[in-house]
Amino acid sequence: MNIAIGSDHGGFALKEDLKAWLIENNHGIQDAGTDNSDPVDYPDFVGAVAQGILSGSVDRGILICGSGIGMSIAANRFPGIRAALCLDVETARLSRAHNDSNVLVLAGRKTDGKTARSIVDVWLTAEFEGNRHIRRLQKIETLKRPFET
Ligand code: RB5
Repeated sequence: MNIAIGSDHGGFALKEDLKAWLIENNHGIQDAGTDNSDPVDYPDFVGAVAQGILSGSVDRGILICGSGIGMSIAANRFPGIRAALCLDVETARLSRAHNDSNVLVLAGRKTDGKTARSIVDVWLTAEFEGNRHIRRLQKIETLKRPFET
């Protein structure tokens, strides 16, 4: 798979760890930064990953910040991006099976490398189940602010 990966300083170490492991496992990687552990702003790394997915230049994205929360909030601002913060293998599997997540968000300060590799492994292989979940995802795409008609 071709995967875009990005992090802030809170996710940098885990990004580097996962990147090496993904390359070893024959995935193509587009690294959107950051490139070191100096403090940066997590929203600055979301656009390139979202754009890669929405343009079709990559299949999936992985974003990592300290808690995973900021990256999740930011990534889900892009229509068509379904970003899932996963702290365990089961939520990673469900995010694919039920939500067709196309961005996996990880918490660099909560999730160790071994756990993260298990989460990524499941997330890359679990299939979207379709069926009733298609209708639910379509409803997400039509959500509007309360004052919009
Ligand atoms: C950076 O200190 C931290 O706020 C960031 O990595 C992330 O956890 C934000 O949600």
